[in-house]
Amino acid sequence: MAAAAGLNQRLICAGDALQEKGPGLRFTVERHGVSEPAFVVRFRGQVHAYLNRCAHVPVQMDWQQGEFFDHSGLYLICATHGALYAPESGRCLGGRCNGKGLFALTVAEHDGQVFLIEEGD
Ligand code: FES
Repeated sequence: MAAAAGLNQRLICAGDALQEKGPGLRFTVERHGVSEPAFVVRFRGQVHAYLNRCAHVPVQMDWQQGEFFDHSGLYLICATHGALYAPESGRCLGGRCNGKGLFALTVAEHDGQVFLIEEGD
């Protein structure tokens, strides 16, 4: 899949590196000249990526490196105060995120690989 005009795709990982509701993969993205932490997970067969930054206080969410799902595997959870987010949208579902969601990143999976789709120069 060729990247659309003005968009770049950056390889993040092999698709089979992400198990359904399993550990996420941490990576970094350059935004406005700043390197920011991010993560990608697989939920209901699809890959979803977000900045690794809670909407309550801008800290990283994983309770152990790469562990973003709560014990049920149905929600993304912030390790600091327990805010819950929808894995497929990043929407705040409960807790101290107070209705403010995660910052979603555009990712695509094809040919057995997962790519970050970034704005091109
Ligand atoms: S910092 Fe995430 S819930 Fe408070």
